[in-house]
Amino acid sequence: MSDNASFPNTRMRRSRAASWSRKMVSETTLSPADLIWPLFITEGEAIEEPIAALPGVSRWSVDNIVARAGDAIALGIPCIALFPNTQADRRSDDGAEALNPENLMCRAIRAIKAAHGDAIGVLTDVALDPYTAHGQDGLIDESGYVLNDETVAVLVDQAVNQADAGADIIAPSDMMDGRIGAIRKALEMNGHSNVQIMSYAAKYASAFYGPFRDAVGSRGLLKGDKKGYQMDPANSDEALREVAMDIAEGADSVMVKPGLPYLDIIRRVKDRFEIPVFAYQVSGEYAMIEAAAAAGAGDRDALVLETLTAFKRAGCSGILTYHAAHAARLLRAKA
Ligand code: PBG
Repeated sequence: MSDNASFPNTRMRRSRAASWSRKMVSETTLSPADLIWPLFITEGEAIEEPIAALPGVSRWSVDNIVARAGDAIALGIPCIALFPNTQADRRSDDGAEALNPENLMCRAIRAIKAAHGDAIGVLTDVALDPYTAHGQDGLIDESGYVLNDETVAVLVDQAVNQADAGADIIAPSDMMDGRIGAIRKALEMNGHSNVQIMSYAAKYASAFYGPFRDAVGSRGLLKGDKKGYQMDPANSDEALREVAMDIAEGADSVMVKPGLPYLDIIRRVKDRFEIPVFAYQVSGEYAMIEAAAAAGAGDRDALVLETLTAFKRAGCSGILTYHAAHAARLLRAKA
C-alpha cells in the first residue's frame, strides 16, 4: 500500500457520509426482478388457509393463486414457484397423483397461463414428497431406502406432465442422481425444447425446512430423514461436483438451498461456473426473520432487505423467498 492510501489521506468514511454518496458507490442492487415468489396451492374455491408455522404465508385455492400471480406481475416479480398441498386421499406410496394431468399443480399452471400468459414465469417443483403417503421425495423399498433410478423414471413423467400443462421452468428438488439429463431428454422429445430446468443442484439435508413440510402437509407423514439423498451441511467441494454434473446434463440455472447459511457455497459456485445461480431462502429462514421481528430483535423490513441484498452480493441472479411480495413493495416505495 502506498503512503497515499493510508490514513488520513484515505478516510473510508468519506464516501459513506452522505446518502447520495452511499448510493453512488453501492456495489449491489436489489430489485423486484431478482425475486421468485413461492406459493402454496390447496383445493377449493376462494380459499385462503393461513399456515401457522409461516406467519403471513397462506395456501391459496387455484382462483386465488391466479390473483396472486397478478399481484406478482403488478409488483414486477418475474416468476412464481408453485407447491401443492395434495389432499390426503390422493397421496399414495408411489405418488401417482404427481402424474395426473388434472392434479392441483397442473390445474393451477393452466389457470395462471390462461389468465396471464407470458406476463409471468411459472416454476414448478419436481419431487414426489407432496404426493407420497410416506413423505419422502421418491419411491421407497421395504427398508425405506429411497430408490434412485426407479424414482427418476417417475420424475421424468412428472416433469413432462407439468410442461404439458404450461410450466415454464421445471425445478427438480428431489436430489436423485441423473434426473436432470433424463428430464432434459424427455422435454426435448415431447416438444418442450424451450422449457427451462432450474436444478436444485446443491440442496442440503437441512433443519430449516420444517414449516414448508407443514405447508405441503408432509411433516406428519415423514419417517426418518432425507440425509440419504440431500447433501451433508458439512460439505462444500461436493456442491461443486453436483453443480458440474447438472450443468453437463442440461440445467439452465442452478440453485443453492437453504440460503443464508450457505452463502459460501453460492460464491464458490458463481466463481467457478458461468451459469445463473439462484438461492432459496427457505421456510425456516423466513420463520426466523418473522420471529426475530415479532420479538423485537430487529426491524422486519430492514432484516428482509439486508438478507436479500446479501444473496445478490454473494453472486445470485435471484432469490426464491416468501418475502418476495413484501420486499417488492418495499423496493417500490424506496425507488
Ligand atoms: C421437497 C422440498 C422441500 C423444500 C422445497 N422442496 C423440503 C424438503 O426437502 O423436505 C423446502 C422449501 C422450504 O423449506 O421453504 N422436495
